[in-house]
Amino acid sequence: MTSDDAAGPRSGQVYAWTAYPVTRREADQPETVRANRAWWDAEAADYYAEHGAFLGDADLTWGPEGLRESEAHLLGDLAGRRVLEIGSGGGQGARWVAGQGVASVVASDVSAGMLERARRINATVADSRQRVPLVQCDGAALPFPDEAFDVVFTAYGVVPFVADSGRVMAEAARVLRSGGRFVFSTTHPVRWAMPDDPGERGLRVTQSYFDRTAYVEQDAAGQATYVEHHRTFGDRVREIAAAGLRLVDVVEPEWPESNLETWAGWSQLRGRLIPGTAIFVTWKD
Ligand SMILES: C[S@@+](CC[C@H](N)C(=O)[O-])C[C@H]1O[C@@H](n2cnc3c(N)ncnc32)[C@H](O)[C@@H]1O
Repeated sequence: MTSDDAAGPRSGQVYAWTAYPVTRREADQPETVRANRAWWDAEAADYYAEHGAFLGDADLTWGPEGLRESEAHLLGDLAGRRVLEIGSGGGQGARWVAGQGVASVVASDVSAGMLERARRINATVADSRQRVPLVQCDGAALPFPDEAFDVVFTAYGVVPFVADSGRVMAEAARVLRSGGRFVFSTTHPVRWAMPDDPGERGLRVTQSYFDRTAYVEQDAAGQATYVEHHRTFGDRVREIAAAGLRLVDVVEPEWPESNLETWAGWSQLRGRLIPGTAIFVTWKD
């Protein structure tokens, strides 16, 4: 979750006011994945202490607006389907899917720390079907054969945390059978132009929507410790098309008045005015 000062980080500038200096610079795929794997390993306990109750143990929540798959039905009828979750974190989404009459479901994530959370939740669920199998892997290099799944999905996993998100689309397409779906939610692209702040400050445009230079937190030696990558809406559409997927919908969930959650830069204040999440629904022909 990015943060920046009033003017917004600019390429090459280093900001020393967070625990780790923040900069905007290039970060390739190996550096990005290495940094984010370690970051999510370290963050796992805090992430679930803060968001675990909102997410539930067996529910597929598309983002901080609280839109659930049980209302959105973006994955289609799951009965008899083979399903893969990438960037699953604690596997709550996969656990919900497991209760929908699927043939199989696998939860995967690059972070051993996040998968350890998933293992712990697995150990507590009463319904044995919800003890989902866990696989540690990079969502941009899936260890599964071609056409192994009917549905691939992620809620805020993988996509903003890799340099080559086109590769994620291509991998999802490869492991899907013809007629299968890849559905992913991620930060709405318009958010990149504003500080990641849930308050008034987060309503001001302070940096270019068109600047794809990565947001990087790094240590004193200049090694990235956390990286987020931005793509414009057009970039996303082109990545999806290049992977051979057909974009059939983009859902921009509205913020319900009943939702008082503040999640990093997401809040009711901002959610009333601008989208926070984009859910891309794609099919493989
Ligand atoms: C914001 S969390 C979302 C977790 C979960 N889907 C949820 O809704 O709570 C992002 C997840 O993406 C995972 N992730 C980041 N980079 C990844 C990559 N290259 N491959 C697979 N997972 C990755 C992180 O480890 C983390 O679990």
